Amino acid sequence: MYLTLNGRIVGYEDSGSGLPLVLIHGYPLNRMIWKAQWEGLSKSARVLAPDLRGFGESEMVPGTVEISTYADDVREFLQAIGVKGRAVICGLSMGGYIALAYLRRYPENVAGLILANTKATPDSDEGKAGRDKNIALAQEKGAEAIADGMLPKLFAPKTYASNPELVAQARRIMTSSTVPGIVAALGAMRDRPDSTDVLLQSDTPVLILAGSDDALMPMAEQEKMKQAARNSTLVVIPDAGHLSSMEQPDAFNNAVAEFLPQAARA
Ligand code: MLT
Repeated sequence: MYLTLNGRIVGYEDSGSGLPLVLIHGYPLNRMIWKAQWEGLSKSARVLAPDLRGFGESEMVPGTVEISTYADDVREFLQAIGVKGRAVICGLSMGGYIALAYLRRYPENVAGLILANTKATPDSDEGKAGRDKNIALAQEKGAEAIADGMLPKLFAPKTYASNPELVAQARRIMTSSTVPGIVAALGAMRDRPDSTDVLLQSDTPVLILAGSDDALMPMAEQEKMKQAARNSTLVVIPDAGHLSSMEQPDAFNNAVAEFLPQAARA
């Protein structure tokens, strides 16, 4: 599906009814990482999965992008499709950074937060230098070079061995991203603030989903979020790497389905 927001096209998925559950994808991905979620969870919620600007079927907008810009995009998208009340905001990895920015900016519109394969802390100096290297790589060699650099880090060892089609699908998703979208996301992630304070100050129910084999998000980071958010639950998904929503969709969906009533009551 598409809509036009401030003159630019936004691709999205909208299925089911009830409490809105907004799924924000990671980098350099698009809404297709949530296919098993809109298929499996639309009986429990209204599942909404937009493509971020410059990814999937959403157009890029020239100019600088901050993590909070994506959060504002999500807010505008929800308003455009008529979601007026509170929603459960779920983000994977960069989507988690955006979900935390959304909670900072729009706390009254959040029924619950799902933070999958992500962290609240900002980039280290080394991490920031890595962003700059990847910006140069994307500009010189394109999305394929970025995808090839990330692909070996995205899945659990068991997934690489047993599900080559899923690995190929992730590569196709990443290579479809636009270079301006990739460059903007890298800059936004490099400059993002520490969001630990948002968790410390909030009573919002939080579900933290970690992959047992996530090579990109250390377990210590998930535990830090659990400690910071007083109303939180941490679920570790076995045999899942960084893309837990795709790798272990049943375990992911079960954890979310169990969390939704808690968020609806809060
Ligand atoms: C993502 O999956 O969104 C990224 O790997 C997050 C990051 O690079 O910090």
